[in-house]
Amino acid sequence: MKTPILEVEDLTLHFGSITAAERETVIVYPGELVGIVGPNGAGKTTFLNLITGYLRPERGTIRFWGQDVVGLSPHQITALGVGRSFQIPQLFLTLTVRENVLVALATREGRWASVRRPLHEPARVQAADEVLLQFGLLAQADRPAGELPEGGRKLLDVAMAFALRPRLLLMDEPTSGVSAREKFQVMDTLVQALREAGITALFVEHDMDVVRRYATRVLVLSNGRILADGAPTEVLEDPEIRLAVTGRR
Ligand SMILES: Nc1ncnc2c1ncn2[C@@H]1O[C@H](COP(=O)(O)OP(=O)(O)O)[C@@H](O)[C@H]1O
Ligand SMILES: [Mg+2]
Repeated sequence: MKTPILEVEDLTLHFGSITAAERETVIVYPGELVGIVGPNGAGKTTFLNLITGYLRPERGTIRFWGQDVVGLSPHQITALGVGRSFQIPQLFLTLTVRENVLVALATREGRWASVRRPLHEPARVQAADEVLLQFGLLAQADRPAGELPEGGRKLLDVAMAFALRPRLLLMDEPTSGVSAREKFQVMDTLVQALREAGITALFVEHDMDVVRRYATRVLVLSNGRILADGAPTEVLEDPEIRLAVTGRR
């Protein structure tokens, strides 16, 4: 049996009377690509926020490679090898696309790295451009990030998390705002980059066609609870699950 990369047990959090997480238990093994689905307000973003230290659970454990990470700061959890991209991209819109990746790389090197070394240090620029090439963003490298279409911004946010070479990458709706036409292209790029780098990933996704095509496993959340956990083909065939996720039969 392989060693789990992530073990979540009994995870619980309420916001007043709202149940954002209730006894959530999940084990993820290296190489998995787990799709997280569920209606608005189901607790998908909360789940990612708990794992990455942005929220602290009332109860439960979270282990990354066997190490308990509850109580660690987001920065400490990132340093252990857990990356994160956001539902709303966290970009510097006036900086260029390349500079955004450079800042991400510099931050990893420590708080004062950008003071000690110039941002456009050649080795760092090379590392940034490799990632931009991998994500099809190199042609846009010198444009301000704010000029990218929404889909491009999402992809850049993912590329910045990816540039830090996490072992586990958590993505919140990486294809929202990407046109239906480009969605599969973006996911093809992303999934290939993850495989090549040997990165295990969890991604929140609303489009069931995307989940069916790319996820090796799907977690269904509803009212902070895990409603189902299994192979996408099986789980998404279930009429009750479909109703819970999409509101339609
Ligand atoms: N910081 C917060 N304070 C209060 N309520 C919150 C907070 N974050 C999320 N919630 C509530 O918790 C529930 C789950 O939210 P969220 O995890 O963002 O859902 P999802 O990402 O599945 O749409 C929602 O009812 C939301 O309004
Ligand atoms: Mg969300």
